[in-house]
Amino acid sequence: MNWNDESDRVVAATADGDDHAVEAALRPKDLGEFVGQERVREQLDLVLRAARARGATADHVLLSGAPGLGKTTLSMIIATEMGAPIRITSGPAIQHAGDLAAILSSLTEGEVLFLDEIHRMSRPAEEMLYMAMEDFRVDVVVGKGPGATAIPLELPPFTLVGATTRAGLLPPPLRDRFGFTGHMEFYAPAELQRVIHRSAGLLDVVIEEEGAAEIAGRSRGTPRIANRLLRRVRDYAQVKADGVITREIAAHALQVYEVDGRGLDRLDRAVLTALLKLFGGGPVGLSTLAVAVGEERETVEEVAEPFLVREGLLARTPRGRIATPAAWEHLGMQPPQQVTRGAGTGAGQGDLFGE
Ligand SMILES: Nc1ncnc2c1ncn2[C@@H]1O[C@H](COP(=O)(O)OP(=O)(O)OP(=O)(O)O)[C@@H](O)[C@H]1O
Ligand SMILES: [Mg+2]
Repeated sequence: MNWNDESDRVVAATADGDDHAVEAALRPKDLGEFVGQERVREQLDLVLRAARARGATADHVLLSGAPGLGKTTLSMIIATEMGAPIRITSGPAIQHAGDLAAILSSLTEGEVLFLDEIHRMSRPAEEMLYMAMEDFRVDVVVGKGPGATAIPLELPPFTLVGATTRAGLLPPPLRDRFGFTGHMEFYAPAELQRVIHRSAGLLDVVIEEEGAAEIAGRSRGTPRIANRLLRRVRDYAQVKADGVITREIAAHALQVYEVDGRGLDRLDRAVLTALLKLFGGGPVGLSTLAVAVGEERETVEEVAEPFLVREGLLARTPRGRIATPAAWEHLGMQPPQQVTRGAGTGAGQGDLFGE
């Protein structure tokens, strides 16, 4: 399996073709159906209500957060809540300022323009967007070279909803032009349990509360993963049982798909196991660790590590990767510290589990 293609993993946070097909059906349609993200939801609700009460177009909204947390879903909800049509495009789709001008000039009053991956827009398009967001105006350049002239074009008021997984990459002038920024957090297991329950209902799957909890705990705080695991567990339940998802069925199914109790998959576990078994918990350099698991450096660093770090199982230090006590516990192993207790701990051992 080529792990570099993240979408091969059942625990990938990014969408694969299969996801695209079902996600539309599982998307909450309004704020009331949108699970979790209490703070963003409450703030957004106020922004939209106030705009509606004024009979005005809502402020521009920036949604940032990791893949699969509901940015696209929320942008569609914004349009629904405003009773406005939505136009969907993305940063990479806008190569030239002219592409953006064409979209902007065809917007209708109050329309929501959803710009996904807004951090990947070209610089000239970005500059055009500044003016469009602030003054609802663009300068369309006609002609080339010294004879080129800029023709100002008035735009109807619209709401830009930008989505990004990398808010830090947005230039401050762009970030500042959003009236509201919602930062999406990872979901708590109880929230994912509600997501799973809701999706099961829509997919006509019978699931027990404990079955939903079992899947939720392995979904890495991400609704997209929760929905995908639910579909895999449903398959298993249909083939191996009577179709009802109980805690036992969910646990068995996810064992088959090699997703463990904490949501780690085979790659994650391979990295962690190598770190513990071969390097005594580290510190070990990234390249050495990658060779030990037979993977590319980038795969270990970009595909496996972020979740391990987030889970508090692995830490990146200047001296290399180290396992935390939670990692030893998760794999049911004893850290060498305890084995050699009293025999004097080696130099640097103190740093190992410090911080
Ligand atoms: N709060 C939520 N409640 C219920 N379902 C949700 C929620 N958030 C996301 N989902 C589900 O998760 C799926 C992925 O969400 P969405 O496509 O909005 O994520 P995203 O943040 O746009 O991801 P990406 O960064 O990959 O574009 C959706 O199909 C939706 O069904
Ligand atoms: Mg999206």
